[in-house]
Amino acid sequence: MTDTDTTPAIEVKNLVKTFRDFWRRPTVQAIDGIDLLIPRGRIFGLLGPNGSGKSTTIKILLGLLFPTAGTVRVLGDSPRRVATKRHIGYLPEESYLYRYLTAYETLDFYGRLFALDRATRRDRITQLLDMVGLSHAAHRHVGEFSKGMARRVGLAQALINDPKLIILDEPTAGLDPLGCRQVKDIMLALAKRGKTILLTSHLLADVEDVCDDLAILYNGKVRAHGNARELLKNMDLEHFFLDVIAKAGDTRTGPVANFLKNA
Ligand SMILES: Nc1ncnc2c1ncn2[C@@H]1O[C@H](COP(=O)(O)OP(=O)(O)OP(=O)(O)O)[C@@H](O)[C@H]1O
Ligand SMILES: [Mg+2]
Repeated sequence: MTDTDTTPAIEVKNLVKTFRDFWRRPTVQAIDGIDLLIPRGRIFGLLGPNGSGKSTTIKILLGLLFPTAGTVRVLGDSPRRVATKRHIGYLPEESYLYRYLTAYETLDFYGRLFALDRATRRDRITQLLDMVGLSHAAHRHVGEFSKGMARRVGLAQALINDPKLIILDEPTAGLDPLGCRQVKDIMLALAKRGKTILLTSHLLADVEDVCDDLAILYNGKVRAHGNARELLKNMDLEHFFLDVIAKAGDTRTGPVANFLKNA
């Protein structure tokens, strides 16, 4: 493993992903030649409207999907290696929780999967439940949880292995404004501790104040990328995606605009 602190956390070159049907005929060109460079210790926002390819990119970075073409290095190595996966925390778009386990038992289950010893699990679970504001609900079944509470358990679960790289697919989805702020504060605290965070969102307003860098994905291509402050300096929030989409020459600007405004 060539993981040193100077290698980028994520390095993607000319990534292509074409989904194919049963007869191997191409159906959807989900990713159409993207490059990403995410240095260590940064909060990187991958933004884009629905269907732009955010989750597909993430699944490739996690080694869950094969790229059609291109190279992918995660923590200096192939994302398919178990040694790489050990250092990654992942919050899926939709968390699959075992409804009859309590929040505590859920985290304990994942701690065991990472072979953490009993004392480490106990300390870490207590800390994580406190961090995500769920200490009071530690012994309630997650099946009874509200959407926001389930999201927080998912976030705690993504952190159980004390990962170097944290990949969060729509971490603020389904959260109220206070919950959204709390999740953002957790991300900032984690970055301060040297973690690298890749998050996705279709709402720029949800994440603009936490991201160091942004890449805007649309129709499988990166349409804009760079330092978040620089990118946002010359665009107002409401028209941000519209500018990007208009530059991509898309004729669906009308419906997309309405969707983004109402989202
Ligand atoms: N397993 C699959 N088989 C076929 N097509 C797929 C598959 N997964 C994703 N796609 C297609 O790839 C494109 C990108 O999907 P993806 O889920 O990456 O978008 P997204 O940016 O995460 O969207 P959202 O904001 O809705 O989560 C879409 O056209 C989608 O229909
Ligand atoms: Mg998605």
